[in-house]
Amino acid sequence: MSHASQSYDFSRPDAAYAELARDLGALLQGEHDLIANAANSAALIYDALPDLNWAGFYLYKSGELVLGPFQGKPACVRIAIGSGVCGTAAARRETVLVEDVHAFPGHIACDSASSSEVVIPLLRGTELLGVLDLDSPLHARFKPVDARGLEALAKIFVSSLG
Ligand code: SME
Repeated sequence: MSHASQSYDFSRPDAAYAELARDLGALLQGEHDLIANAANSAALIYDALPDLNWAGFYLYKSGELVLGPFQGKPACVRIAIGSGVCGTAAARRETVLVEDVHAFPGHIACDSASSSEVVIPLLRGTELLGVLDLDSPLHARFKPVDARGLEALAKIFVSSLG
């Protein structure tokens, strides 16, 4: 398997996400370790998507979200369910797209460069495993096509855990 950085053409987002999904599946193939697979997923996503300043995981532990593997600047470690964008996605168990984080009540500012954000809950059946969080320095960087594409990647990650 090649680990060479590959460029994806996000001018055709559906095709780019399909290609990325295939590559993520290949990258995680045969490995079930949560930390290893979260680390490789964060690295692949951060490298593949344009205009990100943070991509990574918060894992659900003892009733709260705890920082997991990520790429980007150091981030806040613990987030209560219901707090910020991550805690809101976890509480609602649905993807939250935020065009302007500064207008989101309770947004937790980890990196002042962040302007927009998307958070995808990680669900195994009804069990909450955590969230996948992406931040961008651009206003309204994430569109519904990104939410759909990232939800597909999150499913591949969850399936990899066995
Ligand atoms: N902004 C997030 C916190 C995590 S950082 O973006 C990495 C939030 O409001 O939940």
